[in-house]
Amino acid sequence: SLPARVRIHEVGARDGLQNESGLVPVEVKAEFIARLAAAGLRTVEATSFVHPKWVPQLADAEELMPRLSGLAGRYPGLRLPVLVPNERGLDRALAHGAAEVAVFASATETFARRNLNRSADEAMAMFRPVVARATAAGVPVRGYLSMCFGDPWEGPVPAAQVIGHGLRLLEMGCAELSLGDTIGTATPGQVTALLTGFAEAGVPMDRLAVHFHDTYGQALANTLAALRCGVTVVDASAGGLGGCPYAKSATGNLATEDLVWMLHGLGIDTGVDLAALAATSGWMAGQLGRPSQSRTVRALLGP
Ligand code: HMG
Ligand code: MG
Repeated sequence: SLPARVRIHEVGARDGLQNESGLVPVEVKAEFIARLAAAGLRTVEATSFVHPKWVPQLADAEELMPRLSGLAGRYPGLRLPVLVPNERGLDRALAHGAAEVAVFASATETFARRNLNRSADEAMAMFRPVVARATAAGVPVRGYLSMCFGDPWEGPVPAAQVIGHGLRLLEMGCAELSLGDTIGTATPGQVTALLTGFAEAGVPMDRLAVHFHDTYGQALANTLAALRCGVTVVDASAGGLGGCPYAKSATGNLATEDLVWMLHGLGIDTGVDLAALAATSGWMAGQLGRPSQSRTVRALLGP
């Protein structure tokens, strides 16, 4: 059976923009986020408090946050989480009013090294005090886990390895675990197998989210498989923006518009105004100087 409602975790302003080489002005980022909220999205990841040299596009996080401070009052229930890799990032995020944060682990050693300059174990040790301090401050933490199906350097990733790392994030206090198919190689059978493995390990499906990339055109099929397993939180990126700067071939997050088209077609409520969202992605594509990757945006807005 399928859920009546899905919560979309919008990542365009963070996962989407972090991959753009041309610097996007902070005013444009603030308008993008405001328009995503106006289109009905209620979880809009805003930015990352990572090392500015590692992700130059998001080096303006301190300037962006005050520009978003009016949104929560205008849109009740709006959540604007930010990524933090370590305690330094958490300090910066809390000092700028973040009410929700996310840490980001890797299911593989190679990607942990490339993305966090740490082994997978060292990265977990780095996150532990972040999660403890944030939770004690009343700030919920999402745990991302990347490379849950395939890794560009290590190949297919065993489900047991993914479940082991995922359980550590949940046990250290992450309220939600987002399972990332960072390079988009997963197919629906693998998704069902991994989620079944988590269920067998005692993890309730309402603590899981899925984060698919459309590199091989599998993102919607994988999403449907996850919904059938009981997952109700789905990550997506407006206009299909993005990828990850530290994972080659990680292009094309699942486009939020493509997701909304499928969910509304299935009679599943999202709270999103698809026309307003597509118009926002069309506007953002204009800012970036190239067409949206989303099939639905192109179909709705025309050439
Ligand atoms: P490091 O070089 O090992 O850092 O990087 P360090 O701990 O050795 O510290 C070196 C210096 O950096 C120190 O300064 C720190 O204070 C400073 P110094 O004492 O030398 O003057 N520093 C910081 N400054 C500002 N903010 C900070 C911070 N941390 C340290 N937060 C580090 C380690 C984790 C910082 C680095 O590797 C990093 O920032 N990585 C982030 C990479 C990233 O953002 N990747 C993209 C997100 S993950 C993703 O996209 C996947 C996902 O979307 C899901 C999916 O698709 O699968 C989530
Ligand atoms: Mg992604």
